[in-house]
Amino acid sequence: MNAKRTILITGGAGFIGSHVVRLFVNKYPEYRIINVDKLTYAGNLANLEDLKDAPNHVFVKADICDYDRMKALMEEYDVDGIIHLAAESHVDRSIRDPFTFARTNVMGTLSLLQAARLCWEVRPEGYEGKRFYHISTDEVYGALELTCPEGMDSPFTTTASSAEHHHAYGEDFFLESTKYDPHSPYSASKASSDHFVRAYHDTYGMPTIVTNCSNNYGPYQFPEKLIPLFINNIRQGKPLPVYGKGENVRDWLYVEDHARAIDLIFHQGKVAETYNIGGFNEWKNIDIIKVIIATVDRLLGNPEGHSLPLITYITDRAGHDLRYAIDSRKLQAELGWEPSLQFEEGIEKTVLWYLDHQDWMDHITSGEYVKYYEEMYINR
Ligand code: NAD
Ligand code: DAU
Repeated sequence: MNAKRTILITGGAGFIGSHVVRLFVNKYPEYRIINVDKLTYAGNLANLEDLKDAPNHVFVKADICDYDRMKALMEEYDVDGIIHLAAESHVDRSIRDPFTFARTNVMGTLSLLQAARLCWEVRPEGYEGKRFYHISTDEVYGALELTCPEGMDSPFTTTASSAEHHHAYGEDFFLESTKYDPHSPYSASKASSDHFVRAYHDTYGMPTIVTNCSNNYGPYQFPEKLIPLFINNIRQGKPLPVYGKGENVRDWLYVEDHARAIDLIFHQGKVAETYNIGGFNEWKNIDIIKVIIATVDRLLGNPEGHSLPLITYITDRAGHDLRYAIDSRKLQAELGWEPSLQFEEGIEKTVLWYLDHQDWMDHITSGEYVKYYEEMYINR
């Protein structure tokens, strides 16, 4: 294929990566997308079923830590852009197995950076027209205070441009300038990888961009994460394990809105910049859990409140960050991005998708996953 651009996307068989690959493959038929994924427990080719015959999509099963392979791939396909999503992404797993997180998230990112550097620096045009875009998380900033008085619901409103329905549980937000303060092995590994990416810009002049996004939700998310786990457990009448008191706050963004932001930033973002991406959509875990229960019960035809007794409070996550809240006004002001979906609409679409895709769910919740789940929740 004589492509206008060749973009290597890592982690494209995972949750967010599959949405990014789908968007790029469909929106840019003139681009060639090289999708590199190791297919760990979290990577699943069923997430890309609709793209298997797309002529501009090449799937390569490979480990980003394999430096020689990454360099050979970049040379073979003449890659001029990289969107790096591959990572170990689940906080609870990082608490049990931090080494895997350091290996993939830190060494894997370094391996890609060095491969890109050695591949691009020898070209006559050097870094001209190249881009290394690293996808990171708001968790690197640490935790915010929850300044909402006891018993009172989200007293603060944000100053986002489409603010009517937005609420907040504190006056502080993560800004691009907020100092890094990671608490979990996962966030520490992501913070480290972010530093390496910026160091490659500052030291070698590589055209890098970093974005830090809040919690994503939507189709194809592995059911170890709160929303798909709880939808699946409600469907099966299993307990819903709420960590601590369920008071922690997360800022939720529909995954397709994140993919749209990635597209925009990859094409129009400024080199060496950081952009925060968030939903201006804060929820206490227990409140979101009640919305999920009400939505699943309604769609399954259960009486109101039917699944509420499944709520089971369990030991808190170690080092559990209290509140995340992203200020994404820089991205709104500079590139005109905003979340497109109201949360109520996004959660309805999400629950419907999981209920309609039980084969997908049943397939990935068999085998190895069952062992993990039992160790994680049943023996807790
Ligand atoms: P995910 O766990 O669903 O997918 C990760 C993908 O990376 C999987 O397909 C997996 O097979 C692949 N992978 C893992 N190790 C690999 C390796 N060594 N080599 C090649 N591929 C490998 O993760 P996700 O939720 O889609 O997150 C994607 C990225 O976005 C991550 O970098 C994560 O830190 C970041 N992020 C996620 C969220 C969120 O809410 N999920 C929010 C902000 C940022
Ligand atoms: O903020 C962005 C991050 O969001 C991403 O960088 C991570 O990759 C992604 O996994 C996510 O991290 P969280 O830890 O916030 O997501 P998780 O779905 O694991 O948990 C959401 C909240 O729900 C958190 O406060 C912990 C709580 N929780 C989670 C699970 C799985 C429970 O109470 N019970 C559960 O069973």
